[in-house]
Amino acid sequence: MNKQIYILKIKLQDLNQKIRFLLFLLSLFFFISGSRAESSYFRASDLSQSWVYYYPEHWPENQWERDFKNIAELGFEGVHMGEFAWAQLEPEEGRYHFEWLDKAINLADKYQLKVILCTSTATPPVWMSRKYPEILIKHENGNYSDHGARQHASFSSPIYRELALKTIEVLAKRYGSDPRVIGWQLDNEPSVQFDYNPAAAEEFRTFLKNKYETIDALNQAWGTAFWSQLYNNFDQINIPLMKQQFMNHHQILDYLRFAAQQTAGFLDMQSRCLKKHITVQQFVTTNYIPNYEEGHIGLCKELDFHSYTRYMVFGENKGLGRKGFRVGEPLRIAYANDFFRPIDNLYGVMELQPGQVNWGSINSQPLPGAVRLWLWSVFSGGSQFVCTYRYRQPLFGTEQYHAGIVGSDGLSLSSGGEEFCTYMQELELLRKQYTLPRGELDYPSKAAILYNHENAWSIRNQKQNQHWDTQKHILSYYSALKSFGSKVDVINESANFSDYTLMLAPAYQMIDDELVERWKKYTEAGGHLVLTSRTGHKNRNGALFEAEFGEKINELSGAEMLFYDLLPPEAADTVCMGTESYVWYTWGEVFEPAVGTEVWAEYRGDFYSGRAAVLHKKQGKGSVTYVGVDSRDAALEKAVLSKLYERLGLNRLDLPPGIVVEYRDNFGIAMNYSNYNFEFPLPAEAEVLIGEQELGTTSVLIWKLKK
Ligand code: GAL
Repeated sequence: MNKQIYILKIKLQDLNQKIRFLLFLLSLFFFISGSRAESSYFRASDLSQSWVYYYPEHWPENQWERDFKNIAELGFEGVHMGEFAWAQLEPEEGRYHFEWLDKAINLADKYQLKVILCTSTATPPVWMSRKYPEILIKHENGNYSDHGARQHASFSSPIYRELALKTIEVLAKRYGSDPRVIGWQLDNEPSVQFDYNPAAAEEFRTFLKNKYETIDALNQAWGTAFWSQLYNNFDQINIPLMKQQFMNHHQILDYLRFAAQQTAGFLDMQSRCLKKHITVQQFVTTNYIPNYEEGHIGLCKELDFHSYTRYMVFGENKGLGRKGFRVGEPLRIAYANDFFRPIDNLYGVMELQPGQVNWGSINSQPLPGAVRLWLWSVFSGGSQFVCTYRYRQPLFGTEQYHAGIVGSDGLSLSSGGEEFCTYMQELELLRKQYTLPRGELDYPSKAAILYNHENAWSIRNQKQNQHWDTQKHILSYYSALKSFGSKVDVINESANFSDYTLMLAPAYQMIDDELVERWKKYTEAGGHLVLTSRTGHKNRNGALFEAEFGEKINELSGAEMLFYDLLPPEAADTVCMGTESYVWYTWGEVFEPAVGTEVWAEYRGDFYSGRAAVLHKKQGKGSVTYVGVDSRDAALEKAVLSKLYERLGLNRLDLPPGIVVEYRDNFGIAMNYSNYNFEFPLPAEAEVLIGEQELGTTSVLIWKLKK
């Protein structure tokens, strides 16, 4: 390369990095000041963009133009391409073929469609698996994955990483300054791999060496004195077999930490590679499955924002009523919104089900109106875009029975497609009504749920009651807060606790003195903390403290834990709060309150009848509520939070199950996931823009506040 051009390129890259840094500082400023800044990627007045997945490589070239034209005419604003096309992009090692993608981008642009490109690392081509079989994932049973599906390569394999980076670099150089390309999605639904590939085992050992430095420190942390599990050196350590009974659970904890880090590291590596060449106008994200216990979500340092994928109807009836399976779980999208938004204060939904899927246990039709309901649910959390999976129903391959925006003829609009169109037309209406964001003041209250996936891992390794379910436990508090119309942010320990007057830390099993100290300071300064069963029992290695059981939080809870009890469901018991009683069986902690601590609920029905189950005490300018019991149907959790809201004088609504309300910009959005009609209590100053106050099943009501 000509030396001057080379120097100029370096300078440009340098400039690129400086601009990125400035943008980072700017976003940090807006993040700290708490306002929803107009991001550098999305215009606030667009509210939310609508995109669609299109795989040109699946269709005859002479149909592409027709498809792009139709996509644009339906109202979509962007196409997502190149996700699983590594074999088409690099048919042989080092031989690239971009003409087809160039043509597709040209056509998309002809119809004013923005382009989102992908790194196709979820689908390595066959030449790679045959020439370098060491890239393949090794399973716990010793079998290796093979070519012929997808996601078969090990994130730890050095050669896979090297080959991935080479192709990404070529892609980035070709399209990184193309103004038609607005951003990049890395991989596809990158998850944590349980990979026994020798390269992964080697990296695990390196991870442990870096963490513990000496084998004695590791032996101590893993409690290997137990059952003669002592290691003499790091080379003796393998990846734990998850299916082997009684495998050391401290080891499993570290392995899960390592595996989450491997996935995040693989993505960060891709992002760094892209960012060497792409302009600052192009974003980098990935499309996570919201699996809250995998632990890799939020670990990446190099993404511009996080996106998620969401499917609602796939054979499990978590909806309300007999036909609830056609609508889906009422808070499934809301929780994902509240989990992803606080990570970067900016998020989007990269895949949303447009109709029937192919992979569920029973792939039912969604209820008419459900797709539109999900679209507004995504919007209502503050999302910057929604992209639907997929435009055309495929004629071959694993997903033949998967609905698209159009059917198998490539032309007829599916019922979900029609609902997307309705949503996009309605969105246009809202865009016209958009003035300026007024912040988030419309929520009656705001709360945080402090979440650390490591607690869920630790509990999973030692459940003590097979019926315990950490996510269900968290959801019982979350659903109460949502029924109050409260805004909820799911945060982690890096957040500033003082941003929230109310913070819940459900089943926060692993703690250290520093966290206890932060909790104390938070409450002393006026924060209201709700701790729940299983909190504070272990240190961060998953070991018990050498103290009385649960003693570490005695001062916070204002009580001494006498013991905990677990019941079989058929011998469930009750706790009483006021005149109401609530059934429990999964976990109950029994307390002796200290002087000055209020007892809000007591056990009934067993040898500890009359003993305390729920406690409340003032702490500095704030308070601590400790709920030592996990109720069967979330009713106790709601009653405790209601009492706390009353005590604190916090405003709240009282929405029945399935009715969800959110606010963004200057709009209020109410949604009905229930199987009954509900008259939504609109504020007096509301001007209805879409829908009616009487909300039927799957209906949506949107209003503007005329303040
Ligand atoms: C998602 C996946 C997509 C597609 C889709 C089908 O989980 O990310 O690539 O397979 O499921 O519903």
